[in-house]
Amino acid sequence: MRVLVTGGAGFIGSHTVLALLEAGHEPVIGDNFANSSPKVLERLEQIAGQPVTCHEVDLTDVAATDALVADVKPDAVIHFAGYKAVGESVEKPLMYYTNNLDSTFAVLAAMTEHGVEKFVFSSSATVYGPDAPLPYHEEYEPLRATNPYGWTKAMIEQIVTDVAAASPGFKAALLRYFNPIGAHESGLIGEDPSGTPNNLMPYIAQVAVGRREKLGVFGDDYDTKDGTGERDYIHVVDLAAGHVAALDHLDTMSESARAFNLGTGQGTSVFELLHAFERACGKELPYEVGPRRAGDLPVTYADPTRAREELGWKAEKTIDDMCVDTWRWQSANPNGFGG
Ligand code: UD1
Repeated sequence: MRVLVTGGAGFIGSHTVLALLEAGHEPVIGDNFANSSPKVLERLEQIAGQPVTCHEVDLTDVAATDALVADVKPDAVIHFAGYKAVGESVEKPLMYYTNNLDSTFAVLAAMTEHGVEKFVFSSSATVYGPDAPLPYHEEYEPLRATNPYGWTKAMIEQIVTDVAAASPGFKAALLRYFNPIGAHESGLIGEDPSGTPNNLMPYIAQVAVGRREKLGVFGDDYDTKDGTGERDYIHVVDLAAGHVAALDHLDTMSESARAFNLGTGQGTSVFELLHAFERACGKELPYEVGPRRAGDLPVTYADPTRAREELGWKAEKTIDDMCVDTWRWQSANPNGFGG
């Protein structure tokens, strides 16, 4: 299948482009590099040993997005493009709602105009909100979020569901990611957040490489196995494979839109991840326990049963794999794609 991958130069998008190539699909990237580097394209070509096509486009530009879809003539769209920093979304809600919703409207309109009926959306476990029982199950309602970024995911899930229901033949998979970490085993591509990392793994990796002095642990007084927050970390290569499985599943799906958790079903604490990373990089890493971060939940993890039964997909890689692969990427690229 020819697959338009919006946001394909980003962390999860770039790994998915490789997974698509490996599966014999033909990915075409659409990205404006708002939060990614064009250098990722050379790296993808180096790993894949073949050219990777990319169009630089702002997807909030309706005419440009229509022209892109008319030009590429994809069989399917995987829609990653969007802003994703929780804290920034609280400070600049309009920027988040405008960018994430307008780009989705433009993509869906272009798909409708040009008869493209397969859609895979990059959603998040954040749509379960603060009250869902553990483990998180796809049937849980109502979706809600605790910040504008999360609300854009919940809103887009609703929009896609409505558009799919109104368009005979349209099939959409809504993929709810848990906590993607790790990197491709080549060490050539990986996560490269701009500024100070908001998320745990890139922060630990930057401490290990000497860019940050120490990890701040956001609370050790939760009712969890060691007092620190537990999350369902998933290797980005497993996550990428989940997208290919979802794409291949769309034809046989009876619903017009369906949500799937992409997680492992296992919770790992902050200290467990830190110690696994210490094993991977061969040194102790400094940390300091501080107060809880506002809005954090003690524990989140997936019920991954639906993806296993319906997509035939499950996460294979361990926490140690995730740390070894992140360290390979970060140590070879201490400043990410910035050289
Ligand atoms: C965060 C977002 C979520 C988003 C996800 C993407 C918040 C409140 N939630 O989730 O919406 O979809 O990232 O992966 O930001 N921690 C520290 N020190 C740090 C950073 C994190 O102790 O410097 C702890 C946190 O308290 C948490 C765990 O590490 O217990 C994981 O945090 P993080 O990587 O930010 O992910 P989430 O909070 O799950």
